[in-house]
Formats: sequence, structure tokens, C-alpha cells
Amino acid sequence: MHHIKKLEKLPPKREEVETIKILRQLSKTSKVLGELKGIAKTIPNQSMLVNAVALQEAKDSSEIENIITTQDELYKALSTNSNHSTEIKEVINYRKAIFLGYEIIQKQGFLRLSDIEKLQNTIVENDAGIRSVAGTVLKNDKTGEVVYTPPQDKKEILDLLSNFLEHFNLQKSDLSPLINLAILHFQFESIHLFYDGNGRTGRILNILYLIINEMLDNPILYLSSYINENKAKYYELLSKVNKEDEWEEWILYILKAVEITSLRTIEKINSIRILLEKTIELAQAEANKVYRKELIELLFENPYSKIEFVVQKLGVERKAASRYLKTLEEIGILESQKIGRETIYVNIELIEILKKN
Ligand SMILES: Nc1ncnc2c1ncn2[C@@H]1O[C@H](COP(=O)(O)OP(=O)(O)OP(=O)(O)O)[C@@H](O)[C@H]1O
Ligand SMILES: [Mg+2]
Repeated sequence: MHHIKKLEKLPPKREEVETIKILRQLSKTSKVLGELKGIAKTIPNQSMLVNAVALQEAKDSSEIENIITTQDELYKALSTNSNHSTEIKEVINYRKAIFLGYEIIQKQGFLRLSDIEKLQNTIVENDAGIRSVAGTVLKNDKTGEVVYTPPQDKKEILDLLSNFLEHFNLQKSDLSPLINLAILHFQFESIHLFYDGNGRTGRILNILYLIINEMLDNPILYLSSYINENKAKYYELLSKVNKEDEWEEWILYILKAVEITSLRTIEKINSIRILLEKTIELAQAEANKVYRKELIELLFENPYSKIEFVVQKLGVERKAASRYLKTLEEIGILESQKIGRETIYVNIELIEILKKN
């Protein structure tokens, strides 16, 4: 039988969240994350990197809700103005929420409850806001069994939230930010303040928390791919903290997720940098007349580009922009595709890198 255990406020007992095993994994994870932070700096134009990985994350994160959309469809959707399917809209909204969150913390360095509501609102496209009607329970997808009952009373939810935010925004904690990340993610999901979108909002809070704590400079690390691959475990461990205060396994899980996804991101960044250098060399050697640093950067910011983007970014005439793209296609950097009446120029090799997980 499912029994209701009240969700406790933060922080948990220190000895439960700082075990030897946790500290060992923490040192591995910290090292790799530090490397990622450094390697990200080797990409000259950060928005190139952020754009690329944020879309991948938006796709992965939305997939938890069973959205099947190919990477190509998504990039095309980003560069065309046609009506998008609900699935595509969800992914695009999620990506929008990542950028919105990043903008907010860059501006103010912390999050308010209203900011979190804005993120969720962007993700789910409704303004139902914080739960005020009782009845929300978390069920096992397959068996329908109730696995967890979040707090039902609005006053209790708000009280837990202010405790959560106090810890989220606390800059000088005695605990490592990575251990706190795991604790905060658990707490946010367990408060479950919204009717829907708690998972997706919580995953965005994770990256924002890492940036606030200077573990990273940009939103480039995402755990969704790892969580998708280890989803049963993710749910099981959340439940175990709820029922038995079993923190150790949960924290180890999140630390491992950060380690593995950091390693993947490092690889991705290295591949992107190599391709960028190769592309610049090729363009300089074989298309010197149209070579512009900003032009190449544009093709990495928007793996699916079009004339309009070039006009905007370089401030040139349509005719010139068109010639630039065609020339780059001739030397094999781009491949053009017709979508409706539009011609889209694809940075195929970049797409290949971004697709790999
Ligand atoms: N036992 C549990 N305790 C606390 N949180 C849980 C538990 N089981 C699941 N969750 C959280 O609930 C989230 C799902 O909530 P919700 O449906 O509101 O979010 P979503 O963004 O719509 O979905 P998803 O996370 O599946 O993409 C999961 O991602 C998980 O983090
Ligand atoms: Mg949902």
C-alpha cells in the first residue's frame, strides 16, 4: 500500500548526503565538469555552441513525453515559418524556456518563484500556474499504481517552495554545488508545484543552477539523454528518497549523469571545433571572395541557414547573400534543400555531429 510521508524541508542531514561513495564520485564528476567548462571556451563564438546543444536537449527532454521528431525536422522548423505540429512546438517552447532562464539569471543572478512560473508557462503554453486544486498524484506509467503523492495543500506547497528557493539561491553553501544539484532536483520534483511540466522545468533549473554556481558559463550541459537511457532507475530512486530518505543512491545517480553527459559534450565540442577550423580553411582556400568570419559562424549557429539570415547577420543585399551561400555549396560546405518555396542551406557535417549521442 502507498502510504503518504510528508515531504521534508531542506536541507537533509549532512551525513546522508556526503558519504564516502558520494565524495569519491564527486571528485570524478567535478574534474570532468571542470574540463568541459574549459573546453567550451575554445569555441570562439559561444552562441554557436549554445544554439546547437540547446536544440538537442529540447528534443531529448521532450522525448520523455514521447515526442518523436527527427533532428532534421526540428532544424527545418526553426528556419521556416510554416505551421508546426504540436510536437515541434513543444520542442521549440522548451528551447525558448532554456534561453529565457539563461537570460534571467544573467540579468539578476538568482531565480524568483515568478521566474520559475514563467519558464513552466513557456514550456506548457498555459497559465494554470501553481497547483491549487488537490488530486495530483504520480503514477507508475505501466501499472497505474500511485507511487508518490506530492503535497496537496497550496499553503504547504508555497511554504516548501520558499524553502526550496532559499537553498537554490544560496551561494555559499557548505555542500558542493553538485551535491546540492541532486538534492534540489529531487526537492523540486517532489514539491511538484505544477499540474504539468514539472520534469521539464526541473531539468532547465538544473543547468541554471550550475551556471549560477559558476560550474559552467553557458547552458551547454544537459542530463536528459542520460535520464532517458536510465529512466526506470530515475523514477525508482526519486521514490526511494521520498519513502526512505535514501539519498546516497540518488545523489550518485545525478553525479554520474553529470559525469557522463559532460564527457559526451566535451567530445561534441571537440568535433565542432575541428569542423569549424576545417570549414574556415576550406572557405579561405577555395572561396576566398565570399569568405567572412561571420558568415561561417552563422552556418554554425544555424545549421539550417537561408538567404534571409545572411542578409540580417552580414547586412548585405539578397543577391550577395545568395551568391555567398551558393559558392559555399559549390565547394561542398553546404547542401541546399527546397522546403516549400524556400531554399535552405544545410551544414551537413555539423548536423551529423549534433545527431550523435
Ligand atoms: N516518485 C517521485 N517523486 C518525485 N518526483 C517524481 C517521482 N516520480 C516522478 N517524478 C517527477 O515527475 C516528473 C514528471 O512530472 P510532469 O508530468 O509534471 O513533468 P513533465 O515535464 O510534463 O514530464 P516529463 O518529466 O516526463 O517530461 C518526472 O520528470 C520526475 O522528475
Ligand atoms: Mg507531463
